[in-house]
Amino acid sequence: MAKAAREAESSAFASGKVILLGEHGVVYGHPALAGPLSWGVTAKGAPAKACGLSVPKGLPSAHAKQLKRAFEAAAEAAGHPAVKVSVESDLPASMGLGSSAAVAVSIARLLLSASGRKTSPREVERVAFAMEREFHGTPSGIDHTCSAYGELIQYRKKPGADAGSVRVVESKRPLKILVALVGERSPTKATVGALRERQARYPARYRRLFEEIANLVKEGTSAIEAGDLDALGDAMNINHGLLSALGLSSQRIDDMVYRLRRMGALGAKLTGAGGDGGAVIALFLEPEPTVAKLTREGITCFSSQLAGPRAL
Ligand code: PMV
Repeated sequence: MAKAAREAESSAFASGKVILLGEHGVVYGHPALAGPLSWGVTAKGAPAKACGLSVPKGLPSAHAKQLKRAFEAAAEAAGHPAVKVSVESDLPASMGLGSSAAVAVSIARLLLSASGRKTSPREVERVAFAMEREFHGTPSGIDHTCSAYGELIQYRKKPGADAGSVRVVESKRPLKILVALVGERSPTKATVGALRERQARYPARYRRLFEEIANLVKEGTSAIEAGDLDALGDAMNINHGLLSALGLSSQRIDDMVYRLRRMGALGAKLTGAGGDGGAVIALFLEPEPTVAKLTREGITCFSSQLAGPRAL
């Protein structure tokens, strides 16, 4: 790519994600299903003497240091192009919606493009993973992989492997969800670590639950491909029950899940790491009337289409 064209390409968007089925099991090598949100993060690049990052104002100093370290890792992996990078996000942070992964993917895309390198999902994923490791330690990789592909994917990674396998899942019908926020939650690392201790004490018992979640992922994927949204909703409901059995739900998460089911959701569950708060997702044929009703009550929620044919 010509230098002038590279300099003109100064903005890169990356979407947040929701996990439809299979969170936590994916950390142990089982498959999970995740789709991109229409909300996300935009990285902007201005020509500069050296590769650098404008740290967002108001970021607590520990987070700023972590972001700088993560940026350095990405700059190294992308060849230190001469751009000054800034990021803007419309995703709520630390809610299980993949905001740190979207930061990583948007920066990875921008840096690779500024270096004149390939911006294929695989390459973006590789650079973004260098950043995600700084944010999360040993994530399964599903967040940044979903963001890098920007499509509904079934993802699986053997624990310890560098990269996972990805299958893009086509939906026969529009796949629309409502996302409702139910309050602050503990960091993913803490929730994943506490579950790891429980499963290490009773490995056979926890393995059975992870295997059942993996079955739901496979059945849910087939349901999407066949256009059977009732079957997908049922898989989501059962997946929520199993996450609850694993100790990953809470009163406020459950209250929202049951409420959304009463309001006509085909299925509802926590999404992401869960724990004490975070986000709940619900599958609706038309989520908008429910979004409007909950918004009038002061609940933060929005809708997004994850896959399938879109209205023109
Ligand atoms: O950080 P969250 O809430 O999007 O959780 C990611 C999903 C987990 O399976 C809980 C962790 C992982 O690394 O896959």
